Amino acid sequence: MSELVSPIKVGPAKDVLLLHDGSPFAKTVARLLALDYRLGGHNLERDPAPAAVSAQALVCCFSRFRSRYLAGVRALAQRFAAPPVVLLAAQSSQSLKLVEEMPGTVCLFEPLNFATLKQTVKQALNTGAEAAWSKLQPQNRQALQASSQSFQSCFAASARGEPLPVEQVFAACRAVKDSFAGANFGEWLSALQLHHDRSYRHSMLVCASLTQFCQTLGVRDADLERVTVGGFLHDIGKFKVPLDILDKPGALDATEEAALQRHPSFSRDILLAETGLDPSIIEMAVQHHENLDGSGYPDGLTGEQISDLVRLTAVADVFTLLTEDQTRQAGRTPEAALEVMANARGHLDLELVRRFRAFVLDGGADAAAA
Ligand SMILES: [Fe+2]
Ligand SMILES: [Fe+2]
Repeated sequence: MSELVSPIKVGPAKDVLLLHDGSPFAKTVARLLALDYRLGGHNLERDPAPAAVSAQALVCCFSRFRSRYLAGVRALAQRFAAPPVVLLAAQSSQSLKLVEEMPGTVCLFEPLNFATLKQTVKQALNTGAEAAWSKLQPQNRQALQASSQSFQSCFAASARGEPLPVEQVFAACRAVKDSFAGANFGEWLSALQLHHDRSYRHSMLVCASLTQFCQTLGVRDADLERVTVGGFLHDIGKFKVPLDILDKPGALDATEEAALQRHPSFSRDILLAETGLDPSIIEMAVQHHENLDGSGYPDGLTGEQISDLVRLTAVADVFTLLTEDQTRQAGRTPEAALEVMANARGHLDLELVRRFRAFVLDGGADAAAA
């Protein structure tokens, strides 16, 4: 099986380590965080000397911060790349001391805004993930860092209604494409899996599988670069979909699903505003949810109206959607996902699915000949 579909799951056993005082406030926070993250916990009220637990971010949650907690928090905080996120039911002079002592510490007080809490914890987690990238081979590290920075720049530009940083995106995609030529793609994928921004992770997984698949089909040079950029930008319109829909654990209701399905139209608005973008890149973003039988969206295109490159993008996108981990739920195995795709007559191009299956299960060389 190729490395592409069997990333080695390395990284911390837990996402978040929660230091707490066993209070009802801490229990409520623990329940909320456990909806999204693998959570480890330690009660400082019972035991002031916590053992180190492998996790990406430290969250401290106390009904009231007491000075006797300080040594335990201090001892663990130095193991994390990001300063702790501190959640308190009430402010106290001791809590101010904690914030003073650990610059960058984010302190949130009851009543907590759940969206702010999630966003703050996610930022701490991603700081941890990107710090772990420092151990990668230089080419992989630079490619991932460049792609993450470009993705954030695109998000910021889109939020401000400004043009996308297209040159930065092309440079990052060139670094990503070149990094695939390196020997250790498993390392690249494992490092990507540590990141907690679902949209970024998904876009990069599609970008990676599409680029590598197209390479096995003989696409090269500037054509391959366009494929990589198209994969990177294929869901750019999701920046306009509310985060609580994008990050919702479990199934969406009909209204949320309709909001999500607007993302290809948003992509069209964003990308058509750019000058000099190859039309094939825009088509990949706008049309990858079209189905051959006309049942897709946003335009209900059929058969010949859908280009080969868009069909390839749809195959890589569906495979990624089926295999990637959802919140608290592992994705399908590659074999199971390919089985589902092989039965998607009328939706996907089954000849491309067959070739993609050969690429995934037997490695690159067989796909071109399949
Ligand atoms: Fe999409
Ligand atoms: Fe997608």
